[in-house]
Amino acid sequence: MVQNIITIDGPSGSGKGTVCQLLATKLGWHLLDSGALYRIIAYLAFEKNISLEDIDTLTDLALHLDVRFISNGSGVDALFNGVNISDKLRTEKVASAASQIAILQPVRDALLARQKEFAKSPGLIADGRDMGTVVFPDAPVKIFLDATAKERAQRRFKQLQVKGFDVKIANILSEIKARDHRDRHRTVAPLVPATNALVIDSTALSIGEVVNQVLDFARLKIEV
Ligand code: DC
Repeated sequence: MVQNIITIDGPSGSGKGTVCQLLATKLGWHLLDSGALYRIIAYLAFEKNISLEDIDTLTDLALHLDVRFISNGSGVDALFNGVNISDKLRTEKVASAASQIAILQPVRDALLARQKEFAKSPGLIADGRDMGTVVFPDAPVKIFLDATAKERAQRRFKQLQVKGFDVKIANILSEIKARDHRDRHRTVAPLVPATNALVIDSTALSIGEVVNQVLDFARLKIEV
């Protein structure tokens, strides 16, 4: 397996996605958006009327998922059976269902090998909740990116407003808190910093500042 792996774990809205995209572009490395895998299963569950408690069928979906990720210049698009479904994955409904599916150990196990395959030369930026703890425990550089729930809700609120959605910040905050609670307190692969991770609080930092802190830390461990 390739040695150049930077794992970035953290809750939604911590800036993880953008930081990972910038790092992957800057270094010319591959990018794993592991949350997209959980979101795809959630999306398909709705499409195919599969209950979020039907573990066997959801696990089967995870094992046989025909999905490819292709770079679109500023990130990656998810192709399911050749169709770009990226936009369909970014709804709150899908996010919430993904977080419910993510508590199922058999589904997580089914996705493990697929995620490991992303570790290819020249390197990988792995974005998720358990990248440093479970999927790539031997990665030389591990980051845990956090921010207060209030700040994360404000970021999400602004993003949705720009897209023209009429949303209430109080609703976003309570949804973020519910998802956080599920992700941090589940028994399987909970969202926690890996023991040797650098914890960065992005509440008062710009994206550029976070990227620089990650690169400074990475330079202590590997050549970037
Ligand atoms: O990063 P995201 O918001 O796209 O992830 C959606 C959900 O998927 C998140 O609430 C928890 C789950 N997830 C996970 O359990 N493990 C990962 N490595 C990535 C995401």
